[in-house]
Amino acid sequence: MKGSEPDVIVIGGGAAGLMCAIEAGRRGRSVWLIEHANRVGKKILMSGGGRCNFTNLEASPQNYLSANPHFCKSALAGFTQWDFIARVQEHGIAYHEKELGQLFCDESSKQILQMLLDDCAQAGVRITTKTDVLAIRNTGNGFAVETSVGAVTAESVIVASGGLSFPTMGATGFGYELARQFGHEVLPTRAGLVPLTLSGKPMDEIDGLSGIACPVSASANNVSFRSAALFTHRGLSGPAILQISSYWKPGDALHLDLLPDRDATDWLLQYKRRKPAARLAACLAEALPQRLAQRLCELEHWDGVLQDYPDSSLGAIGAMLNQRPFKASGTEGYRTAEVTLGGVSTDGLSSKTMESKRVPGLFFIGEVVDVTGWLGGYNFQWAWSSGFAAGQVC
Ligand code: FDA
Repeated sequence: MKGSEPDVIVIGGGAAGLMCAIEAGRRGRSVWLIEHANRVGKKILMSGGGRCNFTNLEASPQNYLSANPHFCKSALAGFTQWDFIARVQEHGIAYHEKELGQLFCDESSKQILQMLLDDCAQAGVRITTKTDVLAIRNTGNGFAVETSVGAVTAESVIVASGGLSFPTMGATGFGYELARQFGHEVLPTRAGLVPLTLSGKPMDEIDGLSGIACPVSASANNVSFRSAALFTHRGLSGPAILQISSYWKPGDALHLDLLPDRDATDWLLQYKRRKPAARLAACLAEALPQRLAQRLCELEHWDGVLQDYPDSSLGAIGAMLNQRPFKASGTEGYRTAEVTLGGVSTDGLSSKTMESKRVPGLFFIGEVVDVTGWLGGYNFQWAWSSGFAAGQVC
C-alpha cells in the first residue's frame, strides 16, 4: 500500500468486497479490505456444496428481485457471467454446467477463493481479518474510519458487508446501520432461498414423508419454479421450494404441482381406460414416490379402483394433483437462508457505479443492496458485477 493511509476501504471480504478490491487495486488505488471474521470468503467456501456455483449461463435482470427491477441491469451488463467465466478459465479452474445453466467448479470452491486472493495480492490489496470497523465519519473530502486496530482516513468507503443470512458465517446488520447513518433508506429485510416450515395440521399431514424428494412445480403469487421439492421434518425444502420462498410471505397461498410434466386428469382417464380394475393408490404410485402416493390417498380418502370413479371425480383428483395446496406457516429464517431479501434501497444509489447519491465516495455492493438473485449462481454474479462496477470508480 502507498503510504500509511489507504485510498479505499472495503468493509467485508465476501465475493463482492474481494471483486471490488481487485478492480480498485488494478487501477492503482491503495486498498485496505477489512473483514471482521477470522478469514475472508467463508460463504464462497461453503457454497454449492463445496464446489461454488459461481455463476449462471442464463443470468439476466429477470433473475433478480428488487423494488426497482431495472437497477441491476447496468452492472450486470458491465461485468457479465462471460467475463467471470473468462477469469475462471484464465486461472485454469475446471468447471462444469450442472443443470439450468449453473456453473460449478469440478474440484473445489477453494479454487475460486484462491483466484480472488491471488488477484488481490497482485493488485496490492491489503487484507486484514478479525478487525472491526467501529465508526465512520464523513469529513467532507473523505471518511475518517475508526477500526479495532486504529484510525485511518480514506477517500472512498465500500460497504460489502452482506446480508443477515447465516449469522454463524459472520453476517451482521452492519451495512444497514451504516446506510441509515448516512441517510439511506433500508427496505425491510427477510430470509430468501430458505426452506419453508409447516406446523399444526399441515405438518401432521406430511409427517413421515421426511426425506422424500420429487419433481414439482412450486407456485406462489403468480410465479412458478419447476424443480425438485424435498419433504423435511420441519416442512418443505429442495430447490423448487427455496426458489419460491423468495416470492412467498406468511399468509400467502402455496401450491405444488405434483405431476408437473403431465395433465394429471388426462393421465388418470387414460389409465382408467387401460386398467379399469387398478387401485387408485397403485396408479398414483407409478408417478409419485410410493409413500407420498399412499399418504395422499389416506388424506383425501381416495380409496378403491379406478372404475368406481366417474370421470368427473378423476377430473377433480387430477386438478388437485396438478395444484395441491400446502399451508406453510413460515420459513426457517436467516439461520439457513442462502440470501437476505430487501436491504439498502437502490433509490439512493447510482446503478452504474453503486455510489451513494447522497454521500460521494460511499458505495454499497453485493447482498447488502436490495437486489437478490434466484438460486443457481445468480447471487454470486450480482456480487461480481456490482463489485466490479464500484471498483472502476471508487
Ligand atoms: P458476503 O456475506 O459473502 O460477505 C460479507 C462479508 O462481510 C462477510 O465475510 C462478513 O463476515 C463480512 N462482514 C459483515 N459485517 C462486517 C463488519 N461489520 N465488518 C467487517 N466485515 C463484516 N450464491 C450463489 O450464487 N451460488 C452458490 O452456490 C451459493 N451458495 C450459498 C450457500 C450458502 C450456505 C449461503 C449462505 C449462500 C450461498 N449463496 C450462493 C449466496 C452467496 O453466498 C451470497 O449472495 C454472496 O456471498 C453475497 O456476497 P457479499 O460479498 O455481498 O456478502
